[in-house]
Amino acid sequence: MSAQSLSGRRVLAIGPALAQLADGPLAGAAIEQATLARLIGVSTTDAELILIDADAWADNALAAGVQALALCPAAPPVLLVGSHLPTAVVRNLLRLERSDVLDAPYSPENVAAAIEGLLAQKAPSAAPAPAPHAVEVARCWAVIGAVGGAGATTIAIEVANQLCARQTKEKSVCLIDLHLADGSAGAYLASSPTLRLPELAAAADKLDASMLQAFVTPVTKQLDLLAAPRDPAAFEAVTREAVLRMLEIACESYDWVILDMPRHRRNWTLEALGGCDEMLVISELTVPALLAARSLSDEIERDLGSGQKPKIVLNRLASRMFGPAPSMAEAERALQRKAEAGVSSDWEAAAASVNLGGPIATHRPKSKIVKDIQTMVDRLAAQAVATKAA
Ligand SMILES: Nc1ncnc2c1ncn2[C@@H]1O[C@H](COP(=O)(O)OP(=O)(O)OP(=O)(O)O)[C@@H](O)[C@H]1O
Ligand SMILES: [Mg+2]
Repeated sequence: MSAQSLSGRRVLAIGPALAQLADGPLAGAAIEQATLARLIGVSTTDAELILIDADAWADNALAAGVQALALCPAAPPVLLVGSHLPTAVVRNLLRLERSDVLDAPYSPENVAAAIEGLLAQKAPSAAPAPAPHAVEVARCWAVIGAVGGAGATTIAIEVANQLCARQTKEKSVCLIDLHLADGSAGAYLASSPTLRLPELAAAADKLDASMLQAFVTPVTKQLDLLAAPRDPAAFEAVTREAVLRMLEIACESYDWVILDMPRHRRNWTLEALGGCDEMLVISELTVPALLAARSLSDEIERDLGSGQKPKIVLNRLASRMFGPAPSMAEAERALQRKAEAGVSSDWEAAAASVNLGGPIATHRPKSKIVKDIQTMVDRLAAQAVATKAA
């Protein structure tokens, strides 16, 4: 882009170091230096282009700034630059109609080319058609057990299967088992895990959508599984960057991504959760599990610091509450919040499905587990569509 073509154009620069671009790719532009707070309610009447320096801000503040942009009905095109680009922020940014990301080190020519590309895109009209090269990013939900055996894998599989039933496209849902050492999703689905972690670690920086396919196990026409073979040293065989890159590429390759998350924290856990649209903490109806669910969701909410809150799902609700098990109301008192959903107990259906291999919906479609999860997925998916349309 020549200095001439930016001449007189209003550019909002979020980050003091961007001032140095005034003599290069931003030459001739009318630059307004501002902080992230300026992004609240910003529109094309304020600026024709927004440049954000990711390195100038704390991750939480940056995430909040990008969320504010997502709420603007007529946001200008946005270019995010920096050497530290949090995955969650990048994913949310790519959901904007006109956005791009430049990873440092970059040259003035790289910046100019990215700006030129953004300004060449038409502003979305009232009824926007999808841009041909827009990156569609998956909706990503994480499922995490409050205690061992709470039913996280069972629920993750049923949720993934319910989402498949809503899709017409092949390969639209990916279930990722992040219990890298001893995940059970492959065994529950009678599928052989093919995520070879040493190869993933070696290929991480060049991993792309086609390479990712070498690691997935197709389960049905619509469902793919990313799971690693059993290996006690699996967590050490892969780097944080490799795990996050795999999640990023999966989110670009599928419409829905479901994460079966380990409950013990890894160095990639928070960033993986931060990139999710929903986090479901699965608890059973025992006092220790409910207390663990409360603590786990509080810890996640506190450590993410982005305002994202996990939702608690109560699993194995018995239809008749005799004996000392807490009722749903008592459970919510212990949790100090409402539960998002309850899933009925049905040992026969759960056991039949793992023994035969496949979702409960396939082997026992009339089970209450299937109905309860369908109700929950209907509600969460409707919220996801509403958020996307907003
Ligand atoms: N709603 C349910 N009714 C009856 N049995 C269930 C239900 N949900 C899960 N189960 C059973 O509970 C057991 C544990 O479930 P699952 O493996 O899904 O738990 P998890 O939280 O993933 O465990 P882990 O901590 O090992 O990852 C399995 O035998 C499963 O079939
Ligand atoms: Mg599990």
